Amino acid sequence: MDYSIESVTLDKLQSDCLLVGIYENQQLSPSATHLDSLCNGLVSKLIARGDIKGKNAETLLINNLPDTAIDRVVLVGFGERGKLTRKQFRKALAAATKVVKSGKIQTVGCALLDMEVEKSDAQWLARQIVEVFNDGLYQYTFTKQCDDKISLQHLSIIVNDANKQLAEIGLQQGIAIAQGMALTKQLADLPGNICTPTYLAEQALVLAGQHDKLTCDILEESDMEALGMGAFLSVSRGSRQPAKLICLEYHGNDTHAKPIVLVGKGLTFDAGGISLKPGQGMDEMKYDMCGGASVLGILRAASLMNLKLNIIGLIPSSENLPDGNANKPGDILTSMAGKTIEVLNTDAEGRLILCDTLTYAKKYDPEVVIDMATLTGACIVALGRVPSGLFGNDDKLCDDLLGASETACDLLWRMPIWEEYQEQLKSNFADLANIGGPDGGSITAAVFLSKFAEEYRWAHIDIAGTAWRTGAAKGATGRPVALLSQYLINRAAA
Ligand code: BES
Ligand code: MN
Ligand code: ZN
Repeated sequence: MDYSIESVTLDKLQSDCLLVGIYENQQLSPSATHLDSLCNGLVSKLIARGDIKGKNAETLLINNLPDTAIDRVVLVGFGERGKLTRKQFRKALAAATKVVKSGKIQTVGCALLDMEVEKSDAQWLARQIVEVFNDGLYQYTFTKQCDDKISLQHLSIIVNDANKQLAEIGLQQGIAIAQGMALTKQLADLPGNICTPTYLAEQALVLAGQHDKLTCDILEESDMEALGMGAFLSVSRGSRQPAKLICLEYHGNDTHAKPIVLVGKGLTFDAGGISLKPGQGMDEMKYDMCGGASVLGILRAASLMNLKLNIIGLIPSSENLPDGNANKPGDILTSMAGKTIEVLNTDAEGRLILCDTLTYAKKYDPEVVIDMATLTGACIVALGRVPSGLFGNDDKLCDDLLGASETACDLLWRMPIWEEYQEQLKSNFADLANIGGPDGGSITAAVFLSKFAEEYRWAHIDIAGTAWRTGAAKGATGRPVALLSQYLINRAAA
């Protein structure tokens, strides 16, 4: 699938399918008005007879358009004029994507840059068009043949002289972010028997090979041993797959600007270890590497956008399985930071691999450190599957991330990590317990991590509820790649 912008008026357009927007109450967008005049009032006729009302995300496919070089039109409803939110714009785009992905349509012209969306310009609109389309067209094909092959190959966004430059920037950003998200989803959807820590490390090396400014180094278990990563290594002891610490460096800024460090939990399968999880839905724990896959997706997007930043990506990758050599409840580990940890539940393994990685991150003298992890089921209890949970020790960093999440429509909600919660992590036998009991589980997990992130500005994003969809539409979402890409875009512009 490729995307472009095209300066052409509708009377000259040749396309398998044109997308134009309408509002409720028979209000047409400028493009819809133009189209209406080109085809003798067909659009207004269809609206007048009630075939489409213009409600948000309503669509009407017109399969034949007399007197034009346009084969088909999809009228897309956006709701009430003057009240169109960013979320609604995306929702309507997703509905339009569904219509054009079925059937024989190969090329689409998208005349939707003239929609009036709150707080948004042509750059934002163009970017969202690419992101939402690419997301909707994603198909998992690694181990399964597609039932319905998508014919669509090209989408061109129709621009005029006034919005051309902004749209071009938005298009390029959209393509980069969409490609990043696609990589994240592909890796995340792979089963645990294919996507092992070794496989993830190989894919990181492949990614680095594709971009000049990106390099990749893999730390093996022996290296981690030498560094004293007792918490991380304790998790992989229960698995026959060797753990990897994937270290990526993106040098987009020649100066010695301090790097932004991104850390992603890369648990390629989490059975819980000796504290074994129940069988129901356990397959979904192949998604426990979504934080790591997101780091790869974000670095791909940053590389494609050629951002003038220095970025480090760190992905601790392991399995968490029960084995004769596995962690046991009551075991005490010594982390790289020197703090001892009592393992009260071997299923709270994410924080064990992350804490040593957060300690390792110090060597980069980071500007900020942001970790992403499918860390706690409790985060889903607290927030549902709508926003990711945000935790952090720095208000400015958290505000920057919240701002980026607004723009990217990749939602985030801040949670507290007040000192009151530390009580719950007390252990009679170690400096910290690895769980904090049933109350506020996503918070105590974040508080645990905060103890290893005291020397820099840090944020933690719990993506347990947002990294994949459960149920009939089970599959990776590519979140929070768009959010972090926006954060990096903002940082590069600052
Ligand atoms: N990877 C899981 C968290 C998770 C569970 C994410 C379900 C998405 C859906 C994590 O390693 C885990 O098992 N956490 C435990 C922590 C508990 C033992 C304190 C949990 O959430 O149950
Ligand atoms: Mn677990
Ligand atoms: Zn886990």
